[in-house]
Amino acid sequence: MTDMFSLKGRVALVTGSAQGLGNTIARGMKEAGATVVLNDVNPKVLEAAMAEMGAPGYVFDISNEAQVISAVERIEREVGGIDILVNNAGIHRRNMLIDMPVEDWRKVIDVNLSGAFIVGRAVARGMIARRYGKIINISSINGAMVRPNIGNYCAAKGGVITLTKSMATEWGEYNINVNAIGPGYCLTELTKPLAEDPTFDAWVKSEVPLRRWGKPEDMAGIAVMLASPASDYISGQTIYVDGGWQACL
Ligand SMILES: NC(=O)c1ccc[n+]([C@@H]2O[C@H](COP(=O)([O-])OP(=O)(O)OC[C@H]3O[C@@H](n4cnc5c(N)ncnc54)[C@H](O)[C@@H]3O)[C@@H](O)[C@H]2O)c1
Repeated sequence: MTDMFSLKGRVALVTGSAQGLGNTIARGMKEAGATVVLNDVNPKVLEAAMAEMGAPGYVFDISNEAQVISAVERIEREVGGIDILVNNAGIHRRNMLIDMPVEDWRKVIDVNLSGAFIVGRAVARGMIARRYGKIINISSINGAMVRPNIGNYCAAKGGVITLTKSMATEWGEYNINVNAIGPGYCLTELTKPLAEDPTFDAWVKSEVPLRRWGKPEDMAGIAVMLASPASDYISGQTIYVDGGWQACL
């Protein structure tokens, strides 16, 4: 890796990074030289990840503004100013729209969309003062292409794509780049119920031009790139990492 992709001297906060894509992105950023700060709402898995990676971690719920503001203040005091933020934490509450309880609609919008706004704004305040920042929002292929049974999630992830453009538009003058990654279907705890269904598994493999599910490692390189000087003139974009799925019908 050349200096162009180096994160040396940078502090990177990755939300929902006790497991899954967030954890792999955090490992990639650590390998690129960043001081990585982990976060999760689940203290048990977070403690295990902290011990395994030898990284600091903070328990907070990204959709709770008071918790977020106090955690960001503690991280900046205890670790240093946050240079890189990955808004990764996300959840599913699967159901057809016609049957979906309003609480499940609200919960998914609250965590996946409002959480990115709440953490993004809290962290951007320091980035604006320091005139430097890289924000990476994790959207999804479902932010652009939908499937039945996840209407709440698709609306939230579509919102993340436009939130990314709004953040990029309002914070660009402070030297803050804001971009999104749109992963395709990757094997994690979140997609376990889908991967365990042979029909769904076969469908993914037949639809994706690269003929396989994504691996969490497939997201690390692009996240490092979007956090590094290599992407200094990229902002407001969503980059799909989906094995080519978006390109074909
Ligand atoms: N796995 C996929 O196929 C896929 C595809 C597209 C997008 N994504 C997105 O990638 C991100 C990570 O997904 P994953 O598959 O690694 O999921 P995961 O369930 O394996 O990990 C998500 C982590 O976020 C944490 N979390 C949940 N709610 C939180 C909250 N309110 N505050 C803090 N932490 C919270 C969970 O405890 C968990 O550790 C999500 O935003 C997801 O929507 C995943």
